[in-house]
Amino acid sequence: MAQTHHILVLPGDGIGPEVMAEAVKVLQAFETPQRKFQLRHELIGGCSIDATGKPVTEEVKQAALDSDAVLFAAVGGPKWDGARRGLDGPEGGLLQLRKAMDIYANLRPCSATSPSPSIAKEFSPFREEIIEGVDFVVQWMNGATPKKKSSVSPGCPQKWPFATTPPWPVISLDKANVLASSRLWRRVVEKTITTEYPQVKLIHQLADSASLIMATNPRSLNGVILADNTFGDMLSDQAGSIVGTLGVLPSASLNGLPGDKALKTRPYGLYEPTHGSAPDIAGRNIANPVAMILCVALMFRYSLNMEAEAKRVEDAVRKVLDSGVRTPDLKGKVGTKEVGDAIVAAL
Ligand code: NAI
Ligand code: MG
Repeated sequence: MAQTHHILVLPGDGIGPEVMAEAVKVLQAFETPQRKFQLRHELIGGCSIDATGKPVTEEVKQAALDSDAVLFAAVGGPKWDGARRGLDGPEGGLLQLRKAMDIYANLRPCSATSPSPSIAKEFSPFREEIIEGVDFVVQWMNGATPKKKSSVSPGCPQKWPFATTPPWPVISLDKANVLASSRLWRRVVEKTITTEYPQVKLIHQLADSASLIMATNPRSLNGVILADNTFGDMLSDQAGSIVGTLGVLPSASLNGLPGDKALKTRPYGLYEPTHGSAPDIAGRNIANPVAMILCVALMFRYSLNMEAEAKRVEDAVRKVLDSGVRTPDLKGKVGTKEVGDAIVAAL
């Protein structure tokens, strides 16, 4: 019998629908008689405010809980910048959705070879020998704690998913020298790793010096860089500078990893590019779809147990970028659709 994966597709605003269309093409290229994707398209962000008065409806939140994974592009734009803020504004749709899905960890992979060594070589502000061999995942906690462990203070869950393959060390960031909250963080991390993941090597690193190390010797941070919301958000944005461009970096937001012994509910995954809705270039078929397409690879990897297919997507993206088929942000001459088509063809 055919296996059917239920995917909630949330294109959102600005360039969202354009890049999402290409990601969906790539996803559909993996359909076989044995494997089907059932897609449900819904509104989120500004377009949802226009249609329903809310940035996300209860129906869409329920659809996320009923799906195997969620693909999210981007929300927001000048049209909705006025009075609406926080949970009522376009971004509120994403925040509400993450909360509904009990998502508390965000993973941002960063490597000098992803999406392709040729991209880092051309666009990174760093010298080649500095970034050569860089390979880490910044994993930060979204602030919400897993429901089961609410006795622990916010931001310090006792259990969480790890990207532990390959067998990387965990480099935990804090400011334990000055912040009491960091000393709590350090205690909880120490206890969790030694009891739940005894095979994992743990390194404590002060967050401010981690930032300097990321700019001078980023290779020495290879591993899982674990941090709270504040340090994680800052370091993951800084990590974006290693590759040197916005349009190619995907991220995964999870409430757990499949097979993780800490996971008590079914795993939920929301996959989103690290860029925003880029209203300045929306509707012109020039947005780079690569970050969104690489979200499909992360979804295969973390939610659908399709590691081989995830690698095939990443290989196809690399091949296409290396061949010079690129959007204008990467000094290329082709459009969003053409890059998507080339990646599908490479598959
Ligand atoms: P942005 O990431 O949308 O754009 C920054 C710059 O990068 C712009 O010049 C844009 O044209 C370019 N860019 C971004 N993605 C690109 C892509 N795929 N291909 C080619 N060029 C790309 O960030 P900005 O300008 O700060 O925010 C614009 C809107 O997006 C705002 O309304 C903001 O609130 C929203 N936003 C939404 C996010 C989300 O949905 N998670 C995250 C960040 C911003
Ligand atoms: Mg950020």
